[in-house]
Amino acid sequence: MSKRGSFIVVEGLDRSGKSTQTALLLARFEAAGIPAKLLKFPARTTPIGQMIDSYLKSHSDLDDRAIHLLFSANRWELASTIEHLLGAGTAVICDRYAFSGIAFSASKGLPYEWCRAPDVSLPAPDLALFLDITPEAAKARGGYGEERYEKEEMQRRVGEIFRRIGQEISDGGGEGEGGKWVGIDAGGEKDVVAREVWAFVEPLARGIEGPLRRLWP
Ligand code: TYD
Ligand code: MG
Repeated sequence: MSKRGSFIVVEGLDRSGKSTQTALLLARFEAAGIPAKLLKFPARTTPIGQMIDSYLKSHSDLDDRAIHLLFSANRWELASTIEHLLGAGTAVICDRYAFSGIAFSASKGLPYEWCRAPDVSLPAPDLALFLDITPEAAKARGGYGEERYEKEEMQRRVGEIFRRIGQEISDGGGEGEGGKWVGIDAGGEKDVVAREVWAFVEPLARGIEGPLRRLWP
């Protein structure tokens, strides 16, 4: 039986090293001769993504609920692409996914369950890696940028909600509908973090026998 590709999500605060680590992870797949594709959310080039980009740069204002739904819609517009890639045996690596959607919007005060609802039935990752870094350490990496949300107080709340999400997934057995959640200390040197990331990804890298799951019980 031919295997489907594995679906790996990398989450974390701003400046936690997601872009660096997802690029290194893609290179690992390529070096191993395993087909893989790197996606990033928000995907800023689609029409919905352009609205998100404008909001993040504070060129436009939107109701908190409206922007939340746009972030989710941005994932839905790529959901069939993800499914097709996985079905064709290509691994998919995502720089942020639905967990960011919940963590950032809930930290603005929207109810947790409400935030989760629009992402129900999206393809579920087989593994979610949370790059864990304190807001102080993230800031020390050269400071946050100019975008909305890139502020220490917001990042602290976001981190707390990410940990809650991870706890819920782990309480559900760790292999539940949300896939497996792993926290990684992202405060260290990039090659050290990359080795730890690969240690968790490698067992899944050559594909998965079981069906693709859907997000959330
Ligand atoms: P980010 O990955 O940080 O983009 P960049 O690498 O270009 O800085 O994403 C931009 C912001 O969007 C980030 O602060 C997190 C936020 N975000 C949400 O609020 N909801 C979502 O669903 C996603 C995917 C991201
Ligand atoms: Mg950012």
